[in-house]
Amino acid sequence: MTLRRLRQSALTRQLVREIRVTQEQLIQPHFVIEGLKTRETIPGLTGVHRETPDTLLHQVEKDLEAGVNKLLLFSVPAKKALQGFDSSFTAGQIRALKQRFGNDLWVSVDVCLCSSTSHGQCGVLNPEGNHVENSSTVGELARAALAFSEAGADCVAPSDMMDGRIAAIRKALDSGVNPRAEHTLIMSYSAKFHSRFYGPFRAAADSAPKGGGALKDRATYQIDPGRPSDALLSSLRDVEEGADILMVKPALPYLDVLKELSQKIHKPWAVYEVSGEFAAIELMAAQGMISGPQAHLESWISCIRAGASMIITYGARESKEWLKFQDSL
Ligand code: PBG
Repeated sequence: MTLRRLRQSALTRQLVREIRVTQEQLIQPHFVIEGLKTRETIPGLTGVHRETPDTLLHQVEKDLEAGVNKLLLFSVPAKKALQGFDSSFTAGQIRALKQRFGNDLWVSVDVCLCSSTSHGQCGVLNPEGNHVENSSTVGELARAALAFSEAGADCVAPSDMMDGRIAAIRKALDSGVNPRAEHTLIMSYSAKFHSRFYGPFRAAADSAPKGGGALKDRATYQIDPGRPSDALLSSLRDVEEGADILMVKPALPYLDVLKELSQKIHKPWAVYEVSGEFAAIELMAAQGMISGPQAHLESWISCIRAGASMIITYGARESKEWLKFQDSL
């Protein structure tokens, strides 16, 4: 069988290609830090910064000029607490973005407590202080999600992995307190694995777990890498509870999961190319081992091939340049 005839030139390859990545599928994460005076670089995440409220607006403006009009906001409040979290700093950032850019910008906002708690866990601890409590955490998350929606977020994205949070958030949004909240999307991190690839992010978002025992990591709520059936159950459950968009995270180590789940559950699928995956490519490129832009592009193509319709990636803002390589692959 002759297969090489269709591989012989770049122009022929363009015609027979089945998978393409477009800029409109990409979502750029941002970090904004309360009380920060000047923006800071993040080890491993080339081109991404811990932003101040002012530099955030400036960076988003530059991203829009570069053709990137969708973002995922991670907001880090100065005051850490055990419960009764104050979401006003984050709500203020959303308001500022929406006031400045309106509907030219799609704003999704991470909903989690790990940047707000003094211990770095994604929720409220039980009275003994040795376990992340489900119901009190879900209450806090629903309150935060409603505040973000009222501030103008197009989408709220709970990444905490508590049980029942999608239902609680949908109920809060639909409660009628604010009529526009019923239009706010929920993007659920429905298949979020307990991964070592989140390292650079935790430094950026000030969210590493600081405890001992069961509080040393996030294994009691994030999905075990060896248990794909849990990812299926979690995603089915989140659909039932009202999620509009589902997600697999990280990306490359879990493409098998993305492929299977996107074939079984006909909902829009996002995939998150997480900080450690992005940094791995950047570090190899810095050592001259690979071409960074082409390696990033290859990773994105694999995400779309596996069934994602959108990709959250730290490289979105470089995509105009990187996607051009599709013409010469
Ligand atoms: C917060 C959260 C994490 C990431 C997104 N939201 C870290 C974690 O769960 O520890 C990771 C994103 C990345 O690594 O790029 N719960």
